[in-house]
Amino acid sequence: MHAAARRSGIDALWPLCLALAQRRREGRPALDDSVPLHWTAAAGYALPPGWDADAQALFALLKPLLDRQGAAADWTIAQLGQSLDGCIATHCGDAFYVNGPEGLTHLHRLRALCDAVIVGASTALLDNPQLTTRHVAGPNPVRVVLDPRLRVPADARVFRDGAAPTLLVCASACRVPAEARLGAANVVALAPGADGQLPLPALRAALTERGLRTLFVEGGGVTVSQFAQQACLDRLHLIVAPVVIGAGRPGLQVRRADAMAQALRPPTRTFAMGGDVLWDLDLADAGLR
Ligand SMILES: NC(=O)c1ccc[n+]([C@@H]2O[C@H](COP(=O)([O-])OP(=O)(O)OC[C@H]3O[C@@H](n4cnc5c(N)ncnc54)[C@H](OP(=O)(O)O)[C@@H]3O)[C@@H](O)[C@H]2O)c1
Repeated sequence: MHAAARRSGIDALWPLCLALAQRRREGRPALDDSVPLHWTAAAGYALPPGWDADAQALFALLKPLLDRQGAAADWTIAQLGQSLDGCIATHCGDAFYVNGPEGLTHLHRLRALCDAVIVGASTALLDNPQLTTRHVAGPNPVRVVLDPRLRVPADARVFRDGAAPTLLVCASACRVPAEARLGAANVVALAPGADGQLPLPALRAALTERGLRTLFVEGGGVTVSQFAQQACLDRLHLIVAPVVIGAGRPGLQVRRADAMAQALRPPTRTFAMGGDVLWDLDLADAGLR
């Protein structure tokens, strides 16, 4: 029996998850003798018997991400931690903390398994996040800040702490000052579309060119909604906390239904996450535009 298979909990499973992500990044085959899992092209990975209930639940939650091997690696997942009334922060922008500690661990796991983590300008401005994997073992992802008008100051932590590479995504009109600040290699300048928004399929293509294929959109609501509206989101984890914020910053905003018959009902699964509930939405064919 493989050494990892003798142990049965999350502490044994997590290094295996990291190893699968690394195989994906390196373009190695999904399976060889070092991977104590089953694999078929049709069904992806499966855990053999012997893992405890916590490990099985974590594996089930992460499986859609872990299965992104080979050509399937071009894939985008997002998360939003939200209240019962659909807010991701108070109206002033306070989001610490909507969710419990288990949600924070999950966030850091998604960072560690993806190639890049993406945040919008307001999140970078209000939270001044590090976007590193401090709560779990695993590599820091490349950090991507979507700041079309260069609202985020040059001394924000992601630009100066050196913990991981950071890419600044701006409108083409701001290319020159952005490159002066961070160097041309760290800037992706895009021409806005007719609606004034930056085209996210073009961003995904630019990131793919840099070898960043499996992407994690961490927030906030405007940015996640943009990915959904531009049909650039494959999966969404909504972590719902038993709290009511009241007229706060909104979470997912997609096309409006006039009648319930037009409302979207994507395939979903639910997972307990401490006192919160994680809703896993499969958006691949959800028609969110
Ligand atoms: N609970 C959670 O899970 C969670 C996660 C992250 C953040 N937050 C909280 O959420 C709040 C911020 O979220 P938010 O929804 O207000 O804003 P956000 O998504 O962080 O940032 C939105 C801004 O990013 C830029 N942007 C995003 N997509 C764009 C596109 N396709 N084209 C052009 N620009 C684009 C725009 O900047 P411009 O305005 O400059 O055009 C846009 O206004 C903060 O309070 C933060 O603490 C909560």
